[in-house]
Order: sequence, then structure tokens, then C-alpha cells
Amino acid sequence: MRLPENFIQEVVERTDIEELIGRYVTLKRTGANYVGRCPFHNEKTPSFTVSPQKRIFYCFGCQAGGSVITFMQKAENMDFMEAVEALANRAGLPMPKDSGGQATDRTTPRKRVLEMNLEAARFFRACLFDPRYGQAGMEYFKKNRRLSEATIKHFGLGYAPNDFGMLRRHMHQKGYTDDELVEAYLCARSQKNGNVYDIFRNRVMFPIIDTSGNVVAFGGRVLDDSKPKYLNSSDTPAFKKSKHLFALNYAKGVCAEQMLLCEGYMDVIALHAAGFEYAVATLGTAITPEHARVLSKYTKKVIISYDSDEAGQNAANKAMRLLGEVGIEVRVLKLTGAKDPDEYITKFGAERFRRALTESRTGFDHKMDAILSAHDLTVSTEKIKASKELCALISEYHSPIERRVYTAQAATALNMPVDVLTNSVEQIRSKRIKDIRRKQSREAEATLKNFGDRINPDSAKSPRASSAEEAVIGLLLIYEEYRNAVSAGEVELTAENFVTEFHRSVFEEIMRLHESPSGFRFELLGMRFSPDEVGRIERCEMARQQLSHNGPEVFRSATEALRDAQRMQTLQEGDLSARLEYLRNKKANLHKGKADTQ
Ligand code: CTP
Ligand code: MN
Repeated sequence: MRLPENFIQEVVERTDIEELIGRYVTLKRTGANYVGRCPFHNEKTPSFTVSPQKRIFYCFGCQAGGSVITFMQKAENMDFMEAVEALANRAGLPMPKDSGGQATDRTTPRKRVLEMNLEAARFFRACLFDPRYGQAGMEYFKKNRRLSEATIKHFGLGYAPNDFGMLRRHMHQKGYTDDELVEAYLCARSQKNGNVYDIFRNRVMFPIIDTSGNVVAFGGRVLDDSKPKYLNSSDTPAFKKSKHLFALNYAKGVCAEQMLLCEGYMDVIALHAAGFEYAVATLGTAITPEHARVLSKYTKKVIISYDSDEAGQNAANKAMRLLGEVGIEVRVLKLTGAKDPDEYITKFGAERFRRALTESRTGFDHKMDAILSAHDLTVSTEKIKASKELCALISEYHSPIERRVYTAQAATALNMPVDVLTNSVEQIRSKRIKDIRRKQSREAEATLKNFGDRINPDSAKSPRASSAEEAVIGLLLIYEEYRNAVSAGEVELTAENFVTEFHRSVFEEIMRLHESPSGFRFELLGMRFSPDEVGRIERCEMARQQLSHNGPEVFRSATEALRDAQRMQTLQEGDLSARLEYLRNKKANLHKGKADTQ
């Protein structure tokens, strides 16, 4: 189950970090580094740094950081082994076969969930096509939703029987345990009596398939008007609701210039059946920044085709913003006479829908229309309100060209001089930028605190010891000579000197790697620590790196500070007089030391 360390190093060395991360983040060169906007938290000003020399990334805003492997783990929701495998494939390195286990066909939680999902999808499909169980489901799809058998098969639709244990029994036969079924969100465990039962019952089933063809999750719909209308898989080791899109596996292969973003499974299925095979939908959630990033990998233009009710229109506004932020050209479809694309196609046919598509408008036009039609422009107070709202809207566009074009458009619509609007737009904009900066630094501070607590809970109890430990770890990470010194016993420093458990385990791992045949390499820390922990370790290194003075005496005094802090901590738990005694001695020694050097 373990990969050889030198293989991991080779994968890291063969990966062009700037190219890899550049596919997720727009990077700009600044000296030896690259900077961009962090993909792991929302920010307007770039604090995400990539160092090709050191082969690491680090975000000064949210403290995400680590090697290319850590990056893959976080960006693609993978475990360490999967991330190494993905990078190895990219670099054309075959995975080592017999490294104490077959690395390539090992079973990870994620792989196991995917196998279970595939088996469950087969089961649901078989039930749908078996008249003994699936008659109601089949009738629903064919009669109520007018789906052809070809469409049903194309999407791998299924039916979950009205039975609390049928899937469970089937999966037991295939060798899966109750714990695994619960982890995959196929079964749940009753809080009352601990019984395990099927989650999806008497529902038509929509398998969610990722872009590699894995069944990652399910959505299940009731056959009538009962509630809840849909049940969806929660996040599992194989599924992240905030990232996956329904039918992207098909849409990505259609060489359309654009994608259609809808709200519902049924919208997508109806659209694909009508020939619009570039339609996708989020899965029972509003669109997230991650969805937007995923979409930007596959298309440059998205037409938002949400429900025509108010909720749908509000959701469309959010989608416009998020898609715009990742540089996608956004259009909005306005459908009249039907509540959603599914109903529109049933009522008016594919041709009318195609025509409606050509009339889709830019996000700005759509929003400007909404503002203009909400105010009576012949009334001056209303006109002023509309102008203000339009200026606020325009001020949100980052590109000065866009701002200029839209200001001109608004000026015409309002019958007002352009320069008046321009001034107002720029005023709103500079105030907003100031506010954002202020808010960001507050947020960064808050994150910092929580982060420290979560990863190293002991640090709150022993802040002094913890910061001394950070300094020592930072130095050990950067300088091999200090690792040598510790290893050779030239510096008196052992795991016992560490007060906080997290830092102690970091110290042990650094020294273990240092003394192993492969030697210490930063990326190898990912074998033992989670991506968040790796980010935290890197913070120690970054903090140290920023100090110019890092000579050997710095290391000695850092370890000394650490031992002091540790003694104080021990004494703190003991009695006060012992602590005072210790401080008096220390002070006396200090004076003696000074006298010696004079
Ligand atoms: N949804 C959900 N849970 C609900 C309702 C909706 O997860 N209780 C999600 C589903 O992904 C659904 C989408 O929101 O596809 C859109 O909801 P809605 O418009 O109500 O459903 P449709 O997909 O249009 O389904 P139908 O046409 O069968 O009503
Ligand atoms: Mn709908």
C-alpha cells in the first residue's frame, strides 16, 4: 500500500508546477514566483503564490499550501495516493507495481464507493426494466415524462423499489458491508435501533456520472407530488456536490461552442433528447465557485437556462456573477410561457427553443432590463433610483472596457450624459474596493485563528511553546544542516521537547524522513499529514523564510526558547514557587553570561 519515496520525488520533479496550477488559476509572474487568486477561498486581490524553484504553493490569505501533490488533493478531492497516481499519469511515469502492494489496483475508500455505485446503478436499472418491480417507474418515465427507451438507457436511469432492504441484500451478496453501504450513502443507519436500511425507495433514479465515466452519486425523484421531491447523495469519498455537474460527461464531448446550464435533472434530459446535448445542471444546490471553475475548463460560453420563477431568476444572477468571475462569457435565456426548459420543449418543441437560444442576452442586458422595467422613468425620483442601481451594477465589472461600454448603454437608456454616470460608477467602485480590502483582512485574521485551533488544538493552551515550536520546525524544514545537527545529537532536541502534539508529530516525521534512505523531502510529508496539515507545516517554513537572519545561533536560541517554554509549561502544571525559582535562576545565568563576555 506504500509507494517508494523516490518514486514520489520523481513524480514531483517531473511535474511542471506552474503549468499544473496554471490550469486552475491565472498566474502572473512576479520575480521568481507566480501569483494569482487563490482557488481555495474567495478573494479579489491575489495572495496565492507559486514557487517553481521550491516546487510549492502557498496562500497568504487562507494558508493553503504544499507540494503539487497537496494541490491535486485539494483541487480534485483526492487522497495522497490518487494524487500521486494522477500526476504520474500526467508525467507518463508508470506506477510501480510491487511496492509492498499493487499500487495501481489498490482499494481506497473512493474506489470502493465507485464500485458500489456502479453496482447500485446496475441494480436500479435492472429493477426499472423488470416489470415485477419497475412497472410504476417505467410508466412514470414513459407516460408522465414522455421519455423514449433510448433516452432512458442513454442516461442509465433506474428505479429503486419500494422496499427497505432490497438494495442492501443485493449489495451484501456482492460482498459489501453495512459500514461501506452507509459510507457510500446508499444505506443509512437508524439512530434508534441501529438497523441499516436503503435510502432510496420507490423513486426513479438518476445516476450522476463524472467526466471519467464513474458513477459518483444518485438523485432520486418521487413518482407523485409527495415530499421531498428529490433525494440526492450527500458528499462521499467519491462525490462533492459543490463540484459535480449532471450530464457533464456527455456535454464535454459535444464540440459545441457553448454549454447550457439548467436547474433540474429533467431539464437536462429533455434538452439532450431534443438534440441539445451540451446541457448540464448542478445537483440540488445553487452553483458554486467550484462549479464555475469546472465549467471554465470545458467551455468559454454558458447560456443560463433557469426556471422562470423568481427563485430561478435570483439563482441566475448568482450564476452570472460566478461564471463571469472565471472568465466565462455568460448569456441568459428568457423563456416565456413555460416554467422551465423541460416544459418549454414539451409545449413548443425543439425548434422554438433553438430560436429562443439565439435570442439569449448578455448578463448585463438581462439585469439592465430588470432594473429599467422595475422603475417608471417618467418619474424623476424613480429615474434617480434606476440610475443609481445601474451605476452600482456597472461598477461590479472588472474590465474598464466593459464598464465603458455598459455606461454608454445605460446613458442612452436613461437619456443622461455619459460622464455623469461614469463618475458615479468609479466612485462606487473605489469605495467597494476599500470595503473589500478591509473585510478581507478581517476574514484572514479569523481564518488564521480557527485554522490554528483545528489543526493544532494544543496551541491555544500553550501559545508560547507553540510559536517556539513553529520557529524550530521552520528552520528544520529549510536547513539540512540543522536536521543533521539534531540527528547527530549536537543540538539537544527531542520529541519530548515539543509541548503540542501536532508539532511533536511533525518533528518526528521530519526526522524520520531525514534518517530514512530517501532523505527528507517536503512533499513526503503528505504521506502522513492531510492537505490542511501540510499547509500549516508550510506556514512554519514561510514565516521563517521571511526573516533574513537565519544563522546557526538562531537555531540554537530557537531550540533554547522551546526548552524554556516546555519547562515553564511543566512548571505551570506544578507549583508557583518552583516556577519563580526557575525564572530567578535563568535571570542569574543571563547576567553571568553577560559578565563573561564583557
Ligand atoms: N432539487 C432537490 N431537492 C428538491 C427539489 C429540487 O435536490 N426537493 C434539485 C434537483 O436537482 C432538481 C432541481 O433541484 O433537479 C430543480 O428542481 P425542480 O425544478 O423542482 O425539479 P425538476 O428537475 O424540474 O423536476 P420536475 O420537472 O420533475 O418537477
Ligand atoms: Mn423544474
